[in-house]
Amino acid sequence: QAELPEGYKLRALRRTDFDAGFLDCLRVLTTVGDIPKDKWEARYDWISKQDGTYFVIVIEDTNTSPSRIVGTGAVLVERKFIHNLGSVGHIEDIAVAKDQQGKKLGLRIIQALDYIAKQIGCYKTILDCSEHNEGFYVKCGFRRAGLEMAHYH
Ligand code: ACO
Repeated sequence: QAELPEGYKLRALRRTDFDAGFLDCLRVLTTVGDIPKDKWEARYDWISKQDGTYFVIVIEDTNTSPSRIVGTGAVLVERKFIHNLGSVGHIEDIAVAKDQQGKKLGLRIIQALDYIAKQIGCYKTILDCSEHNEGFYVKCGFRRAGLEMAHYH
């Protein structure tokens, strides 16, 4: 397991993280949009109700004042009929702030999400990524398997 740098904390997402730059952290990944606080809170509350299904974690840098969210990731647990009612962990929305990349924060996030999925009993954890990020996920212990198809709406 990789260590976190001094003053960095890995924890579950909190309702107050809107003010700690959570959405800015996600902006390194893709378009986030201009999300008002009330809409963020409604979405946070909905996710919190998905007991045992939806886990969002963050890395907080407490060395700065105020402290700042510098990394995030999520895992969704899919409960299946196949494989003896098996469960699969789906890793989604991994992002590390630009000025924090290369400090093994991404690796630490993947390890934590994979650990959550394993504890819940998932027989595998899967994710989609670009060719550009394949090397990162290989370093995290993943290997290429299958092909993603998408139908955008
Ligand atoms: N290609 C190859 N190797 C890489 C890459 C890459 N794109 N990125 C990191 N690595 C390597 C590192 O060099 C390091 O190797 P080492 O152990 O030999 O030193 C190892 O992977 C671990 O790297 P970290 O320092 O943990 O990576 P970082 O904290 O910078 O996070 C991440 C990587 C999450 C891809 C980050 O660059 C990022 O946020 N990028 C923009 C958003 C993004 O693309 N997110 C992933 C989308 S896919 C998804 O969400 C399922």
